[in-house]
Amino acid sequence: MASAFAPGKCILFGEHAVVYGHPAVAVAIDQGVRVSIEESPDWRLEGMPFDPSRHPHITHIIQSIFNYDGPPLALEVQSDLFSAAGMGSSAALSNAVGAALHNHLNSDEPLDNIKLARLAHSAEATAQKGRASPTDTATSALGGCVVVSGEHVEGTRHIFDTSLVTPEGKRDWSINVVDLPPGICEAWLVLGYTGEWSPTGRMVANVAKLMSEKPELSDDMEAIARITKAGLTALSAGNLEALGMAMDACHERLQRLEVSNPSLDRLVEAARPHALGAKLTGAGGGGCMVALAEDPQRVAEAIEVAGGKPLTSKLGAEGVRVV
Ligand code: PMV
Repeated sequence: MASAFAPGKCILFGEHAVVYGHPAVAVAIDQGVRVSIEESPDWRLEGMPFDPSRHPHITHIIQSIFNYDGPPLALEVQSDLFSAAGMGSSAALSNAVGAALHNHLNSDEPLDNIKLARLAHSAEATAQKGRASPTDTATSALGGCVVVSGEHVEGTRHIFDTSLVTPEGKRDWSINVVDLPPGICEAWLVLGYTGEWSPTGRMVANVAKLMSEKPELSDDMEAIARITKAGLTALSAGNLEALGMAMDACHERLQRLEVSNPSLDRLVEAARPHALGAKLTGAGGGGCMVALAEDPQRVAEAIEVAGGKPLTSKLGAEGVRVV
C-alpha cells in the first residue's frame, strides 16, 4: 500500500490583501490529511464505490494529471483538519493524493514537491471554476513558512512562479519561503475553530463591495501590507513579541474590512490575555482564529471555555511526504 501525508495551513498575515496583489504569509501546521492507495477489484473511496463527479480534485489528479488507466484503486482518507474552516483541507487532500499515487506508480523516484504544488493547484482550480490562489497548495507541498505575492518579496527565498487563467483574466504569483530561526520553536500556534462556516468566495466579494462603497478602506489594505512586512521581519528574526503584536494589529484591520464576526472576536479576546497575539485566519466570517502562544495549553483552555474547538501546532511543519 502507498501512503502519503500532507499538512494543512494557517495564514499568519495578508489574507484578503493578497487578492489585491499584496503578500500573504502562511505556515504549514502539524495536522493534515493522510491518503493510502492500493489496487482493488473496483474503484473505492473509504470503502464506498467511488463516484468521480462527487470528487473533482481526486478525479482530476488521477485522470488528467497522471493519465492513469491501470487497474481500479481503493483510496483511504484520514483527516485531522476541520473542513471548510480555512485550514487548507482540500489542498492537503490534493497533495496527499498526488504524493500517494506517485509513490504507488514510481516508488523508487523521490517526490518533487514543486511539481506536487503545481498539480494540487491545478486540481483546486478545476474544482473551483478556475479561481484558486496557490497559497494553500504551495504551503501544504513545501511546508515551513511560505510567502505568496504578485512579485518577489524582499527577505524571502524564491522557489517558483505560477499562473492561472481565471474567469477575470490571467493571474501570476511568486512563491517564496522564509527559513524560520531555531528560536521560533519556543512558540506554538493555537487555532480556534468557531464551528461556523462562510464560503471564501462570498467573503472576498463582500470585501470588494465594501471597498467600492468606502474608498477610505484602501488605507486599511495598505496597513495590512505594512503589517505583513513587519510580521515577516519579526518571523525571520524570531522576535516573538513583535510577531504577536503584528497579529493583533492585523486583526484590527481585518475587523475594519468587516470579515471578523462575533464568534471570531470572542475567541480572539479569550486567547489574548494568555497569548503573544491573536487574529482571525483565512477568509473570516467564521472558520478559525489563531493565537501565538508560549503556553499553548492555557490558550487552548481559554478558547475551549469561550466555545471554540482548539488545535495546537508548531509553526511551519514539514510539507507533503510519503509515510
Ligand atoms: O480559504 P481561506 O479561508 O484559507 O482564505 C483564503 C484567503 C483569502 O485571501 C481571503 C482568499 C485568497 O484567495 O487568497
